Amino acid sequence: MPVKAPKPGELEAIERASRDELQALQLQRLQATLRHAYEHVPHYRQAFDAKGVHPSDCRTLADLAKFPFTAKADLRANYPFGLFAVPRERVVRIHASSGTTGKPTVVGYTQADIDTWAHLMARSIRASGGRPGDIVHIAYGYGLFTGGLGAHYGAERMGCTVIPMSGGQTEKQVALIEDFRPDIIMVTPSYMQVICEEFRRQGKDPRQMSVSVGIFGAEPWTEAMRRDIEASADIDAVDIYGLSEVMGPGVANECIEAKDGPVIWEDHFYPEIIDPQTGEVLPEGSEGELVFTTLTKEALPVIRYRTRDLTRLLPPTARSMRRMGKIVGRSDDMLIIRGVNLFPTQIEELVLQQGQLSGQYQLVVTREALLDEVTVRCELAPEHRHAAPAPIAHELQQRIKTLIGVSTTVDVGLPDSIERTLVGKARRVVDKRPRYKE
Ligand code: DLL
Repeated sequence: MPVKAPKPGELEAIERASRDELQALQLQRLQATLRHAYEHVPHYRQAFDAKGVHPSDCRTLADLAKFPFTAKADLRANYPFGLFAVPRERVVRIHASSGTTGKPTVVGYTQADIDTWAHLMARSIRASGGRPGDIVHIAYGYGLFTGGLGAHYGAERMGCTVIPMSGGQTEKQVALIEDFRPDIIMVTPSYMQVICEEFRRQGKDPRQMSVSVGIFGAEPWTEAMRRDIEASADIDAVDIYGLSEVMGPGVANECIEAKDGPVIWEDHFYPEIIDPQTGEVLPEGSEGELVFTTLTKEALPVIRYRTRDLTRLLPPTARSMRRMGKIVGRSDDMLIIRGVNLFPTQIEELVLQQGQLSGQYQLVVTREALLDEVTVRCELAPEHRHAAPAPIAHELQQRIKTLIGVSTTVDVGLPDSIERTLVGKARRVVDKRPRYKE
């Protein structure tokens, strides 16, 4: 299958600019963003003042290291709209992602932010080999999750014909792919494997599908999985990265001609790699935690946002901008289950609300077949040792599904059936997935 890499004339000037030109633009935008955040968001003013820094102290890109980090906890402390840097009336869209407990992390966009996002998603689709006129099947979830609508606006901006299928209903996914004959599919890599499986279950060969490119992200995936998907469906599989707090999908996207890690759209997001323990900026090429500062966002500028994703920055190849390596893990305990972010503390909150349970719990994550499976192990409180476990398990499983959106198996055991660690932290998560390994 021919690889549809864009010709140099099809790229934006900044994608081919020199490092000097790019860095000059970054510095100018960074200074404006620091001022915007300081002047319009009380949280940033307090945090900068507490560290004794002022936006005027940023004279070079390296000066950014003097500024304080922003964490998910800061979004939670300012829930829901406290970090917005524009009057709420100028915010035209809200999205949300998982918080560490019941309250989600809320993000907002002005019309200009939505335009920038659509523009960067269109740039991402083009880097993936997409062209105006292509048919794009979107199977990322629509709704508060940024995947569906983010991809949707970008594909429309590119001039594509968009099929807003959303996630789930696998048989229908297959039927629509067969009938509408899309050129591109945008979906989590694990769900793409399920779609291929459904083709085979129906006695059809997934290699016969019309799709020639898949743009996969929202969860970690390996080179082995890329090879598997490319062979199963006879397509090119490219990696797209993003996170809600920084924008959504399209913060970085791989180039089809290179497939050597997502290119960070550095004209809009400034990356740093830090030591997750000390917060110190690490030398170029080191593995550590990825930190982003937005350079153009109006509604929710984020300064040194700690993504918790562990990776490294790689030198530019197909574009003037740096790339990121595969995400090799996280510096917190967030799990990604079938594309849905899940913090053990979200489960803990619900376990503790169930009076007959002891409050001890453990999450066991496996991937026996294609999809992630989570078993929530918990136990009866001693005073309820004779209670029937099945209805309690059923109720907790329903609450987890309704409130967090993840299907689990709940296993309610006898008091003391979950092993206790005598020293140190309880082992809350047993992750048996092969995902982070090659
Ligand atoms: O997952 C946005 C997105 C949607 C990206 C569709 C790509 C495609 P959140 O729900 O906020 O946003 O989750 C962000 O997901 O910090 C990573 O841990 C993980 N993640 C996203 N893309 C990738 C990827 C969306 N390509 C969190 N590889 C991030 C590995 C990824 N992990």
